[in-house]
Amino acid sequence: MLNKIDLDDLGIYEGISETIVTTTHGWTANAAPMGIIRKKDKLFLRLFKDSTTYNNVLSEKRVVANITWDPIIFVDSTFGDLDDSDFETVHCNGMSFAALKEAQCWVAFECTNTKLTSEALIAELVPVMSRVNGCILRAPNRGLFGVIEACIHATRYKLTGDEKYLRLIKAYGDIVEKCGGDEEKEAMELLYNYL
Ligand SMILES: Cc1cc2nc3c(=O)[nH]c(=O)nc-3n(C[C@H](O)[C@H](O)[C@H](O)COP(=O)(O)O)c2cc1C
Repeated sequence: MLNKIDLDDLGIYEGISETIVTTTHGWTANAAPMGIIRKKDKLFLRLFKDSTTYNNVLSEKRVVANITWDPIIFVDSTFGDLDDSDFETVHCNGMSFAALKEAQCWVAFECTNTKLTSEALIAELVPVMSRVNGCILRAPNRGLFGVIEACIHATRYKLTGDEKYLRLIKAYGDIVEKCGGDEEKEAMELLYNYL
């Protein structure tokens, strides 16, 4: 099992890390942005009902948390499906996992102590395997953070239809326009198209 030092080395710090969580159902892989919650040395996932990720974790009890700075993957995996060719299969302890080829690094977890509430599933994550594909040195960019915030408000807009979320998306879109590079701007365009 990985220890605290390893989690730090893999970029998963105290608080909530925004990752792309990949899961499987049979041979079908799925990706969606999900927060990995770290409290001291414990990790958790809180999944709201009715997503594919929720259903896959309920049946397969395993996930991979992929770390990426790719804004287009954040948008595409929130609202659409990634291509099969974006995934690779990895094996560990007799289990198979789907990871993202593009990830800078990923950690595969078994889900334990799963608790179900009326609206969500909370699982504790036990790391079983990790890989660092390559680290990108990158200064914080408000454009990327803007895309991530806009994605979150877009999921809320889809759920509730409340127009306040459209105003928030527009505000983050303005930041992306000001601070983002071509990829962040393209991701924002994609997001507007999904709405
Ligand atoms: C940055 C970000 C973080 C998210 N974190 C969570 C989370 O921790 N739990 C959750 O249930 N949904 C979370 N979501 C919403 C899901 O990604 C969204 O509902 C997605 O459409 C689920 O896709 P799926 O049906 O393929 O699993 C997050 C969305 C974004 C953009």
